[in-house]
Amino acid sequence: MKTQYYTAASLDGFIATVDDSLEWLFPLGDVGATSYPAFIRDVGALAMGSATYEWMLRHAVGPQASRPEPWPYQQPAWVFSSRTLPPVPGADIRFVRGDVRPIHAQMVEAAGGKNVWIVGGGDLAGQFHDCGLLDEMFVQVGSVTLGSGKPLLPRAITSPPLRLISARAVGTGFAELHYEFPRQRHDDE
Ligand SMILES: NC(=O)c1ccc[n+]([C@@H]2O[C@H](COP(=O)([O-])OP(=O)(O)OC[C@H]3O[C@@H](n4cnc5c(N)ncnc54)[C@H](OP(=O)(O)O)[C@@H]3O)[C@@H](O)[C@H]2O)c1
Repeated sequence: MKTQYYTAASLDGFIATVDDSLEWLFPLGDVGATSYPAFIRDVGALAMGSATYEWMLRHAVGPQASRPEPWPYQQPAWVFSSRTLPPVPGADIRFVRGDVRPIHAQMVEAAGGKNVWIVGGGDLAGQFHDCGLLDEMFVQVGSVTLGSGKPLLPRAITSPPLRLISARAVGTGFAELHYEFPRQRHDDE
């Protein structure tokens, strides 16, 4: 079982524009050609922040979406927010706030041996990293720059650096990078 941050980002390290647009992302390639289909089969629980959830409500599953679709995940989902957000009828979504550690323990239990996916955004992934809970990161690095936006991972991780496990081209639109986080040392070890 691993805790994985899996996302797409621009070449200059943004996962969305400042106003949460992903219009730049979809023309870059076919998700079916990436590692995503294999990745999602092994996910047993997932977590996202409120901006990501609200993007899904606006663009995919909510009544505001131009063609509303069902909630896309079978796995239980945890949505972090300090606010009260509307649920998606029929979807297994748990609204939570605060310390990620007890939530992670619940996610691991619910995942039943499968992996835990941190969907984003970057600071939420950073909160899991701060607690030594992130094992791996997959980034579909798109062949575009945005100049500004929502950051991929707003943390300084330099020494030891991440460990690159693999890098491969997905057409001309993406470089798929797979990293392992260095194991953090705790005082009780
Ligand atoms: N490129 C990709 O593949 C990809 C992947 C994922 C997301 N995205 C996009 O990237 C953007 C991400 O937005 P974002 O960086 O703002 O991140 P986000 O994690 O989606 O949302 C951040 C918000 O979540 C809430 N939150 C985070 N941690 C919390 C905690 N511990 N307790 C309570 N609330 C917490 C806070 O808002 P409140 O308390 O005010 O609710 C915070 O401002 C979205 O537009 C999303 O659609 C892109």
